[in-house]
Amino acid sequence: MRDVDLRVYPDQCDALAHLNQAASLALFERARWEMLARGPGMDLFRRAGTWPVIRKTTIEYHAPALAGDVLRFSQTLLHHGRTSFTMRQTARRLGDDVLIASAEFVMVCIDESGRPTPVPEELGRFMEAAGVPSGEPRRLTVNGVRLAVELAGEGPPLLYVHGFPLDRTIWRHQLAGLAHWRGIAPDLRGLGQSAAPDLGYSMATYAADLAALMDTLGVTQAVLCGLSMGGYVVFEFLRRYRERVRGLVLVSTRAEADTPDGRRARDANATLVRERGAPALADQMLPQLLAPTTLQNRPEIVADLRRLMAAAPVPGIAGALAAMRDRPDSRPLLSSLGSMPTLVVAGEEDRLIGLASARAMAGAIPHAKLRTIPGAGHVCTLEQPGAVTGALLEFLASLG
Ligand code: MLT
Repeated sequence: MRDVDLRVYPDQCDALAHLNQAASLALFERARWEMLARGPGMDLFRRAGTWPVIRKTTIEYHAPALAGDVLRFSQTLLHHGRTSFTMRQTARRLGDDVLIASAEFVMVCIDESGRPTPVPEELGRFMEAAGVPSGEPRRLTVNGVRLAVELAGEGPPLLYVHGFPLDRTIWRHQLAGLAHWRGIAPDLRGLGQSAAPDLGYSMATYAADLAALMDTLGVTQAVLCGLSMGGYVVFEFLRRYRERVRGLVLVSTRAEADTPDGRRARDANATLVRERGAPALADQMLPQLLAPTTLQNRPEIVADLRRLMAAAPVPGIAGALAAMRDRPDSRPLLSSLGSMPTLVVAGEEDRLIGLASARAMAGAIPHAKLRTIPGAGHVCTLEQPGAVTGALLEFLASLG
């Protein structure tokens, strides 16, 4: 299953502000193209010398969508024949998850003279790569805590560690796009859909959770890929279980510890969350997490991030803030990484952790390559998924 979030605008609605049926068909089509744009590229069909045309559409409207609603379009490949395929799509409203419409599109691939041509194999691979549908993680109890874990793809293990106060879904495009790797994406304890104990959060505990998760899945060694706080966890993992790390991807993160002001800000944020709840922190953090262009032009990403941050459990947020506040300086670790293959990825418009930190980190790691991502802020995995997945693909291929 592949998900794309799109907003309903007033010009798509009737006098009662209901999404018009023709506009809803256009949204289904937009979701299909957007899905390809974020994955293998909108030119997937052209590359294969073919073009998809619709043979049959079946659509059921279940509930009205209103101007301003953000709809989650989920795409599944129901049938993949030689020259035709069937795509099932549903549209659900974000927030209350009400099913707005469900549809099936039978498409035939044709060449310029209208003759049926084979469906590009890449389409099947891309659609099937998601493995477990997003939103349906496995539940595994490791190190005494029940974690939600998404598994996707086949191949050498690649463990994704998300940032704060986010969850595994920030990796959804990479999980889908790196189908030849065995992607393992847990929600860290206290965040996403994992259990949130009241106490006991530290970088050491997160790292021990990951080691126990690898044990449970029978994984001895993995490439570790951490975004922001996920990077802090990866540094701790390296200090404790270095022999289990095959390679490193450090995304939107930094090696230095918090400054005294930074530590005070962690405590202030913990107080804010305890007094006013997670949505207050979400509102405060959002402008820092995304590039200005994303904030302006990609309302579906803004809404998605806000939703997942606002839903994060308060003990998990407060615990993560304390763990980040107390984390050690990881700079001494960097030069000791020796021949560890490492990729550093940084959004060029990251306002939370500037490019300078990424450059310094890459410069201090003996075998690191730096990739900067134009048009992306801190959560570059969602903002420029194609560029980030491409950088990972290239790096992972270099591991042999
Ligand atoms: C994150 O994105 O994981 C955190 O915001 C990083 C931090 O606050 O240091």
